Amino acid sequence: MKKIIFVCLGNICRSPMAEFVMKDLLEKEGMKGEFEITSAGTSGEHNGESMHQGTKNKLNAKNIKAKNFISKKLTQKMCDESEMIIVMDNMNLQNVKCFYQNVELKLKKMTDFAKDLGYDEVPDPWYSGDFDETYHIVLHACRNLIKEL
Ligand code: 4NP
Repeated sequence: MKKIIFVCLGNICRSPMAEFVMKDLLEKEGMKGEFEITSAGTSGEHNGESMHQGTKNKLNAKNIKAKNFISKKLTQKMCDESEMIIVMDNMNLQNVKCFYQNVELKLKKMTDFAKDLGYDEVPDPWYSGDFDETYHIVLHACRNLIKEL
C-alpha cells in the first residue's frame, strides 16, 4: 500500500483538508484500498486538536467525510514510511528539508499538481480566512495527483 502524507504548518487547516479530499476522491475512484493517506504539521502547536471549524464546514458542505481527525506533528517515522510527502507552501518545504532526514526525493509541493491555477503555494486560510480558495486548489491538485498515481 502506498503511503502519502500531506503536510502544512498547524495540521488543522490545509493538510487535513487535503487528507479528506484525497480520501474522498480515492473512494469515488475505487482506489481506496491502494493508498494510505494521512496528514501532519511541522509545528506541533495544535497537537491533539480537531481540525479548524472552517475546514470542517467546507468538507461538510461538500459531503466529504472527515471523522476521527486529531492534529499531529510530523515525525521522522512518518517521513520514512511515506512514499510521497506533499507540502502546502515554501516554508513547509524548507522546514521539512531542514528538520527531517532522507526526504529530498519524496518531497513535492501541492501546487506542483495544480500548475495551471498559477499558485506557488496553497494560501493559508488561518490568515486569509478564505477556505473556498484553499478548497479549490486542494481539489484540483488532488484530482491531478490521482491521475499521476
Ligand atoms: P495550517 O494553518 O498550517 O493550514 O493548519 C495554520 C494553523 C495554525 C497556525 C498557522 C497556520 N498557527 O499559527 O497557529
